[in-house]
Amino acid sequence: MDTPLFSVNNICKIFPAVAGEEPFTALHGISLDIFAGQCLMIAGSNGSGKTLLMRIIAGLLEPSGGDVLFRGQSLYGARSVERRETEKALRRELGLVFQDADAQIVGETAIEDAAFGPENLGLSAADANACADKALAAMGLAEKRDNAPRRLSGGEKRRLAIAGVLAMGCNTIIMDEPFANLDWPGVVQTLNIIRDLKNDGKTLIILTHELEKVLALADRLVILHQGIIRHDGPPAEVVEQLNPAWGVRDPRRNYAAVKDCSWLEH
Ligand SMILES: Nc1ncnc2c1ncn2[C@@H]1O[C@H](COP(=O)(O)OP(=O)(O)O)[C@@H](O)[C@H]1O
Ligand SMILES: [Mg+2]
Repeated sequence: MDTPLFSVNNICKIFPAVAGEEPFTALHGISLDIFAGQCLMIAGSNGSGKTLLMRIIAGLLEPSGGDVLFRGQSLYGARSVERRETEKALRRELGLVFQDADAQIVGETAIEDAAFGPENLGLSAADANACADKALAAMGLAEKRDNAPRRLSGGEKRRLAIAGVLAMGCNTIIMDEPFANLDWPGVVQTLNIIRDLKNDGKTLIILTHELEKVLALADRLVILHQGIIRHDGPPAEVVEQLNPAWGVRDPRRNYAAVKDCSWLEH
């Protein structure tokens, strides 16, 4: 079998005690191999540990125990020189789309925002702008290129964040609650984009508590509850065995079958 893109090995995250409270273990020994080209969904209620896990996979948050291997290279166990090399490779591969689109805005205009990533990777301003223009067009934002990001709608802001990672040439994208604060047209647009990215062969990791909107696009479903993986497998199999105590509603409650669980028009 191929080397996984990511091997999450026994990741723990413990927050130390503050002001007389007990220490809090947010992630209890998470292990997960993620392969290129997969569309993986990680579902769990609020507080289950999805965002922490994302930040740890992305090299942004030091775990309390365990390690993440990116293409077999250690992110947290290696010496700093090697780790920096691995982090550099990771930055080119992995793009993050945060739950709060406003927090991700860095430019004064859409084009400036989308060009920020590629410029950071060392591209000239002209090349970065060319990548950004292409990505904005792919996200249906060509006409907004000179608009102020803060004036875009919620759906447009999320598409701008996705344009930013596409402009960097990222082949793997983690989306944290991609439907948060979106109205129905925004959800449908985002779903169309997720489907197109999947068809383009991107590796997608989608963190959500809203499976009924998107599960039809998943190749694999992981259920996270109180920092523990409760189930991991083909979506149809996992939803058969959902335990209500895990805080994830059966996405099929309004649909006949998993293949119908999507807000995308058929
Ligand atoms: N800096 C922190 N200090 C203490 N607890 C934290 C901190 N960050 C997150 N947590 C806790 O860890 C748990 C998981 O958080 P998070 O990954 O954000 O959940 P999710 O994204 O699934 O809603 C929550 O109970 C949260 O309160
Ligand atoms: Mg979260």
